[in-house]
Amino acid sequence: MENEITTPNTNTESAPKKRMLSGIQPSGDLHLGNYLGAIKNWADRVNDYECYYFMADLHTITVRQDPATLRKRSLNQLAQYIACGLDPEKNVLFLQSHVPAHAQLAWVLNCYTMFGELSRMTQFKDKSAKHKDNINAGLFTYPVLMAADILLYQADYVPVGEDQKQHVEITRDIAQRFNSIYGDVFKVPEAFIPKAGARVYGLTTPGDKMSKSIPEGCVFIMDSPDEIARKFKRAVTDSDTEHCVRFDRENKPGVANLMNIYSAITGESFEEIEREFDGMGYGAFKPKVGEAVIEHLRPIREEAERLMADKAYLNEVYKNGAERASYIANKTLRKVYKKVGFYQLP
Ligand code: TRP
Repeated sequence: MENEITTPNTNTESAPKKRMLSGIQPSGDLHLGNYLGAIKNWADRVNDYECYYFMADLHTITVRQDPATLRKRSLNQLAQYIACGLDPEKNVLFLQSHVPAHAQLAWVLNCYTMFGELSRMTQFKDKSAKHKDNINAGLFTYPVLMAADILLYQADYVPVGEDQKQHVEITRDIAQRFNSIYGDVFKVPEAFIPKAGARVYGLTTPGDKMSKSIPEGCVFIMDSPDEIARKFKRAVTDSDTEHCVRFDRENKPGVANLMNIYSAITGESFEEIEREFDGMGYGAFKPKVGEAVIEHLRPIREEAERLMADKAYLNEVYKNGAERASYIANKTLRKVYKKVGFYQLP
């Protein structure tokens, strides 16, 4: 049939890309677990999706912050993400507080979100147990702001970890509730569970995910080569008797973690690694992994340092990002204001 030849989906060039959006809390320096587990794969996403990423500083103040630290992290973290491969020309990178529509839509959505459904959110329950002295209203309405973040951009996909899936669920509920009253205003988004990267465990606690709360076992991308070497030298290996480099997650979690890191960086399989280090003890293996990590992170750290010192450039990235983001966000916000009955000036 003639029109089969011209059917739009045979022409992938013109098919619009689906939109993806995610927020990141500017809550500290990036580490090897963040990098190998997630960020390393983000650079390639722009081939298939239109990508929006923002630093969620509005969310961050639901837990008390030191203002100077928050300000510094908002810039440094941007530099680190760019250094890890997130290209600001190809992705829209911005700071949440630079786009007022987030707070504006959040207010409206607050009026379409039920007290009961917010009370059931597990993150609210966890965080209010952890910060008993500061169970503020922002912590309670956190998911509504997150819904606003997502719905403003009519995002198709929201890449999130397991712990944030419930927030995407409530976003869908809010969107559907609003749409059922006012018509199709919001795209109903889906959680996007990213292709799993390497799961990196703490160097001193190979039973737990690498975390900045245990800094001795956590390799930050900004760590100096000496620091990284020292952390790997002190990495916990296993007290098994065979004392050889063999992948056994169950019985040799420390060695398995190091092999996993080495594999993620070199692309070698576990068998290849076992062969490479055949006959070598842990004492020789640990610094080898450290060296591979040092060399891999070196250009990233140097680029991040360069960018952190170039405040004018980072400001420009944030300014451009906010402009591009605002354009889309304001379109949605105007529609919402009109739908709910806010009087518009001609
Ligand atoms: N709550 C997310 C987290 O802590 C961060 C976030 C804020 C977010 N707004 C978002 C994630 C919108 C995805 C979409 O990780």
